[in-house]
Amino acid sequence: MGFIYYALPGAEELAENLARRADAKVGRLEVRHFPDGEIYVRAHTLCAGHRAVLVADLARPDHTVLALIFAADLLHDLGAEDIGLVAPYLAYMRQDKRFREGEAVTSASFAKLVSTALDWMVTVDPHLHRRKSLSEIYSIPASALHAAPVIGEWMAHNVPDALLVGPDGESEQWVKAVAEVADMPFIVLRKVRHGDRDVEVSVPQADQWHDRTPVLVDDIISTARTMIETVFHLKNAGMKPPICIGVHAIFAGDGYEALKNRGVRIVTCNAVPHPTNAIDLTGLIASGIQTLLSTKQGVL
Ligand code: R5P
Repeated sequence: MGFIYYALPGAEELAENLARRADAKVGRLEVRHFPDGEIYVRAHTLCAGHRAVLVADLARPDHTVLALIFAADLLHDLGAEDIGLVAPYLAYMRQDKRFREGEAVTSASFAKLVSTALDWMVTVDPHLHRRKSLSEIYSIPASALHAAPVIGEWMAHNVPDALLVGPDGESEQWVKAVAEVADMPFIVLRKVRHGDRDVEVSVPQADQWHDRTPVLVDDIISTARTMIETVFHLKNAGMKPPICIGVHAIFAGDGYEALKNRGVRIVTCNAVPHPTNAIDLTGLIASGIQTLLSTKQGVL
């Protein structure tokens, strides 16, 4: 009863690397669209009696989620023993509350959908803000891995003179963890978001840090407005040109170009494939899968 790793479009490289590390087979999954836009899914590698792992890049979830659900249903139908999801970026985690009357709490709805179709899940730094753990919304065994130790090691080797900067209170958890691993100082700023693309970040007390390279660390870079606003203040405070590190390179709209134009170095983890990927999470994810599978209850 071996494992077969299947990639949803965009996750081919990660699926191959994870399969190689697990000494498992890579299955071929065909996903394409009919002329009317409906999705066609076919498994060219059959999986009866095997354990299947679907590897997905959910950075643009509305393009991928239906294919994922169809693929999971197909693999069950073809006789897979169980089906896991490896989604380094877990989509739909930010709408975790009904902020205004009548709004959908999509983090819970999405969790229900995924929990119905799959048997287990591994992800990296999901945006847990108002929720403490994935088990509050996911009813399948789900493991949330942390990129901080890997980022910390990268920092220690590549920017030994860093001052870590968290742009807001939510980022403190990542910045603090990275700072501990890399043994570096950190500061956390305050942020007020006025709109999707309108953020205000507090001015840092930078006087004592002029000899340090500021390194901004956040879980998600989406519109990049949080990073851009923070970079603006750091430059105004006379600090060295900053480096921006994100776990998840979402880069919505013109986010990437707009941040790049600020003259900063951008470094991201390969949780979402992007030209800025420089920190490799494959080892972290591979051992996370192994740990979850050796401990989870109730599923093969
Ligand atoms: C906020 O809750 C997150 O940790 C990130 O700070 C946020 O998602 C970044 O968004 P943007 O790049 O759109 O400013």
